[in-house]
Amino acid sequence: MGKADTDCVELLQWALPRLGLRWDGYRKVRGQVCKRLRRRAGALGLDGLAAYRARLEADPREWRVLDDCCHVTISRFFRDRAVFEALRRRVLPAIAARARREGRPARCWSAGCASGEEPYTVRILWDLEAAPDVALTVVATDVDAPVLARAEAGCFEAASLRELPASFVAAAFERTEAGFRVRERHREGMVFLRQDVREETPEGPFDLVLCRYLAFTYFAPAQQRAALALLVDRLAPGGWLVIGTHERLPPDGGPRLVQLEGAPQIFRLAEPGAVTA
Ligand SMILES: C[S@@+](CC[C@H](N)C(=O)[O-])C[C@H]1O[C@@H](n2cnc3c(N)ncnc32)[C@H](O)[C@@H]1O
Repeated sequence: MGKADTDCVELLQWALPRLGLRWDGYRKVRGQVCKRLRRRAGALGLDGLAAYRARLEADPREWRVLDDCCHVTISRFFRDRAVFEALRRRVLPAIAARARREGRPARCWSAGCASGEEPYTVRILWDLEAAPDVALTVVATDVDAPVLARAEAGCFEAASLRELPASFVAAAFERTEAGFRVRERHREGMVFLRQDVREETPEGPFDLVLCRYLAFTYFAPAQQRAALALLVDRLAPGGWLVIGTHERLPPDGGPRLVQLEGAPQIFRLAEPGAVTA
């Protein structure tokens, strides 16, 4: 623990469980949260984070502000390369084949979509490679209004594209003065919604649900189990759930979820009547 942020660490360790969040998820990325908390304390005219804790103890309304300060919004295109390679080669073609067979569009939900890097990655892989002939609806949700506004604009700096294979960058983006903009054809039909996954979810069923570096990193165990139940509830039978490389599902999480062989972050919801191990 850096000496300079001891006060912030103490505050977070006290406050996060009260918000249904867990310290372990924040340990490495606490810098941006601590910066926001100091700014908030300053805006309230308080002298440091001990005084901010006193304010929280006295004013229940301040917890909502604290919760907003705890959104970690880091993301990038093609984050966790191996996961996207597996999606690209194994999962998206299977979803496309099924949608084609059933004569319907495919449906994807990105929960905690940040500025859109994740849902746009899926959309670009779909349009350029997996299934240009099948429509894909992407619903992307996040609790944080500023990141959603950026997602809708579809503009990104070069740094957030550095893991995306160059051929996709060349085909899916146009250059702007400030960086790169997702081309119109990959933005069409993308739906961005402000939703708190603890309280609200988009209407399913979805063929593919991504929930990465949100519930299974930052939520406390009971909240992780509740989130998993909601996510599974939104999956179509035979649909796919994707989590982050550094995440695990809660241990008693989902007997109906079957791990994709060789891809420990990708799970398939068993069809009714299917025998699972
Ligand atoms: C670390 S980012 C992950 C972005 C993307 N899924 C990825 O893996 O790159 C987590 C996102 O979850 C959002 N978030 C945090 N709490 C949330 C909640 N309760 N409901 C919906 N979104 C939430 C944050 O605003 C942030 O944009």
